[in-house]
Formats: sequence, C-alpha cells, structure tokens
Amino acid sequence: MSLTEEINKRRTFGIISHPDAGKTTLTEKLLLFGGAIQTAGAVKSNKIKKSATSDFMEIEKQRGISVATSVMAFNYKDTKINILDTPGHKDFAEDTYRTLTAVDSVIMVIDCANGVEEQTKKLMEVCRMRNTPVIVFINKMDREGQDPFDLLDEIESTLDIKVRPLSWPIGIGATFKGVYNMFEQHLNLFDSNKTKIERDIVSIKSVEDPALDENIGEKAASKLREDIELIEGVYEEFNPQLYLEGKLAPVFFGSALNNFGVQELLDAFIQIAPFPKSRTTDLREISPLEDKFSGFIFKIHANLDPKHRDRIAFLRICSGKFERNKFYQHVRLNKNLKFSNPTSFMAQDKSVIDEAFPGDVVGLYDSGNFKIGDTLTEGEMMNFQGIPSFSPEIFKELINKDPMKTKQLEKGIEQLTDEGVAQLFTQQPGNRKIIGTVGELQFEVIQYRLKHEYGASAEFQAKSYYKACWMTSEKPEKIDDFVKRKAQYIATDKDGNLVFLAQTAFLLQSAQTDYPEITFHTTSEFKRELV
Ligand code: G4P
Repeated sequence: MSLTEEINKRRTFGIISHPDAGKTTLTEKLLLFGGAIQTAGAVKSNKIKKSATSDFMEIEKQRGISVATSVMAFNYKDTKINILDTPGHKDFAEDTYRTLTAVDSVIMVIDCANGVEEQTKKLMEVCRMRNTPVIVFINKMDREGQDPFDLLDEIESTLDIKVRPLSWPIGIGATFKGVYNMFEQHLNLFDSNKTKIERDIVSIKSVEDPALDENIGEKAASKLREDIELIEGVYEEFNPQLYLEGKLAPVFFGSALNNFGVQELLDAFIQIAPFPKSRTTDLREISPLEDKFSGFIFKIHANLDPKHRDRIAFLRICSGKFERNKFYQHVRLNKNLKFSNPTSFMAQDKSVIDEAFPGDVVGLYDSGNFKIGDTLTEGEMMNFQGIPSFSPEIFKELINKDPMKTKQLEKGIEQLTDEGVAQLFTQQPGNRKIIGTVGELQFEVIQYRLKHEYGASAEFQAKSYYKACWMTSEKPEKIDDFVKRKAQYIATDKDGNLVFLAQTAFLLQSAQTDYPEITFHTTSEFKRELV
C-alpha cells in the first residue's frame, strides 16, 4: 500500500467529555461496533474517583489502566481508527490538553440532562486553539433531559461554535422512541436492550413517508415532522468544509449505554472526519506525505514496577514511515536513537511493530531520554509546535526531608516533571524548587512516587501564587528592569525561561499596567512568538 493510501485510511481522534457524561461507555461501544472487543465491560474507566484521592494503590492501579487504554486502535470498514484516551479527572486536565495535540479530530460527549459543563468548556477552548474539528454526541437520551433545541442553543452560545444536527431524537427519556438519521434518511428504533448491537433500521423516503406513522405512532411522527421542518428552516445544510475548519460541529443523539445512535456516529465519522493533516514546526509545515519520518512525544508514562525505571513515551507519527531498529534524530538532545521494541496498541493488545504511518501512535520504551514535546526526525533539526503548557493553579515549594537522598530527589523531580506530572520552577536564592500543578492530586502522586520509585522523602509547603506568567517584550531592557524590581517573585522554568509568579489577579493586573511593553502569558503558546 502506498503512503498516501495508508494516510487516507487513518482517523486519529480523542473522545472528550465532562466526567460522567459517558466517554468510557461510548469508547467501549465504538470498540464493540468495530469488532475490536467482544463483550461490554472490557474497557475500564480510567477515572480517578474522588474517594480515591488518598488511596495511592488505587491511583497506581488506575494509572495502570490508563496505560492500557491510552491508545485503542481498530479497523472498521477499511478505516484504521486510533482512539486516544483522555483522563476524565480535572486534576489531570493538562494530560488531556496535551493528548489533544496528537489527534486530528474529537468527539465531544454531552449528557442530555446536564448540557454543557465546566470541563466541556475548557476542552473546547483547547480544541479551538488548533481548530480541531469537533463532532458532538448528545448522550443518555434514554433518560429525562433538556429539550434538544435548547441543548443545541446552549452548545452554540456557550461553546461558541455553530452546530448542525445530523440525527434527531424522537422523544426523550420515557418517551424516547428512536433516532431519525437525517444524513441517510432512516429511522433507528429504540428498545432498551443494552447487549443488542444490531438495531432495527427502517428506511424511509422522507419524513412524509407513512411508514413513519406506522413505526412510531401518529403523535410522535407529527412532532418529528415539525422538528425537522424547524431544523431545516433554522440550520443551514451540513457543510463538511466548515466542520474540517473547526467552525461547525455536526451533532448526533443517542444512548451509548444502550448501543444506540453509536453506529450512525461511527459511520458518519469515517466519512467526514479528517485523515492526518500537515503540522507546524519551528522551521516549516510538515506534510504527512513527506517520505522522511517525523513525529513528536505527547505523553510519557512511568513503569508501574519500581524495579524497572523505564517508561513508555507515546510518539505521534506526523510524516513518512516509522521503522523498527532504524536510527532517528532526537532533536533536543542532538542524539541518534533506535527503537528495538516499538509497540502498537490494538484495542487491548500490545504488540511490537515493524512499521507505522502518519496518524499512528507508537509506544517507545525509554530510559529517560524523552520529555513531553520532543521531536524525532530523520535528521532535520526542527521542532513540532503547539504542545501547550498552561499556568499551574496550585504552587508548593518542595522541601527535602532526607538530605542523604538529595540526588535521588533531584533526579526524581526532574523525571516526573519531564513526564508532565507537574511543572517545575526554580527560584533564587538557594535554587528553591516550586512545583506547580492544576490539581491537589498531583502532589500526592509526586510524594508517593518520589518515595517508591526514587527512595526520596519530600514535603510540600503551600505558596500563595495565583499564576505563573511567561514574559515577552520587544524591549528586553523592560523585562530586565521588571525582573530586578520583582526579584522575589521571579523564577525560571525547566527551559530556562523567566517566569513571573504573580500572587493575585490584582498584582498581575498592576504589573501589566506598570509595564505596558511587557506581555504576560499564562500558556507556553507564547513560545511560538519567540521562534
Ligand atoms: P465518563 O467516562 O464520561 O466519566 O462516563 P462513563 O462512561 O463512566 O459513564 C458515567 C455513568 O453514566 C455510568 O454509570 C454509565 O453507565 C452511565 N451512562 C453512560 N451512557 C449512558 C446512557 O446512554 N444512558 C444512561 N442511562 N446511562 C449512561 P455509573 O452508574 O456511574 O457507572 P456504572 O456503575 O454503570 O459503570
């Protein structure tokens, strides 16, 4: 098969949602339809439940599960589908944001009763940063929920994206009778049978077809006719181009738990979702069709067994063909590396592969060479852009409790922050280490892992910082001046960039007013400007 054919048949995407909307259930049902698993219940949620916050073994177990389910690949109707899993827990939001840099599109699951929730909004913002195409799946239609038109309005207004329903629910909750597939003009009739995969599909010529009344009753049929007329009056025809540009989200309704509406989603997905596209580096755009291999690391997972310190780095392939045992350039370290056991993830099986293509994700065993965002190439010294790191929200100083283990502590914190568990800032005098995270849970994970994997003992002392801001200015002397005046609130990140640790929103605002020539950034996307 040619490289073009390999690329055209791949669809790499992520499923995102606010916790509990049904991401895990939908993932599992897609795998069932794709024939990748045979029974429901095979995919475990990687949610870390609130009750588990102080149960470290539980965290470890969950982390183990999330490695197994990090990438799930399967073939469906000649398409190779790669689903990249994203953690649901908000304390791991940053992991989700980074994973989204490795996908070409997303499916966003929304609970029909709760509508757009907080995490949904944040995830949408991340999708917008890269104009990632979004398909919306409104789930749990077997339960009482909001009116579908209200839900569509809410999505448009709160997520700031245009929508176009491609399927439409007939009733909701107790009155839910099925879904009308507007894309292919057929009825999908509902029965609440969770194990049934094949659905009763009735083809109808149009909503005027009397078969509609026969199947769902006169009352539901006339309501559906009214709804469809309204939809056609209000929403423009589905425009695939606008979807690919990230400006329009097609919407499907269903019930993942009941295998309902999932096949429509999957069938439409393989038709409209984008195959791997060009990506930006600091030198130039890279087309997936280029002969030479390139890719980047978007996730690193530590080995759960403390006796084996090696980790798995997840590589997204962006161009060319990746081959086992071939030397590739690690751009940041300027070093040649080859991989004898690159791993692919087919549903739940891991296996060593000989080659992989753009859109694929490969697991590389790593003994400490990789950091999130690293680029591998066939020699060109370029770096893929747009792996975001956001300002942490919680800051604590790392206190060494065992001076005999200082080296272990340093190494441990260095590696854990390379994995992206947290961000590390260094403050002077005394090289004080400030750890920044988006959630409390990470501090527990860090403390536990430092002890168990590195034998180091640490404590944290809370710091009352509000945001870490990276700074840019056309007049570097302004930054020098600011740094002198605010020395006690200045730190450096792992790449040596200066960071202002603002204590409150007010102090950040006044810094901005006093130094209008300096731009304060709360995401590392500013690095694009530095290039
Ligand atoms: P998440 O990964 O987005 O966090 O959600 P998950 O799939 O774990 O689903 C959250 C809860 O919602 C689960 O119930 C799941 O069974 C339920 N659910 C998912 N899809 C549907 C649906 O279409 N209809 C209905 N009625 N429920 C749905 P749970 O009680 O929290 O967990 P479990 O004990 O059932 O696993």
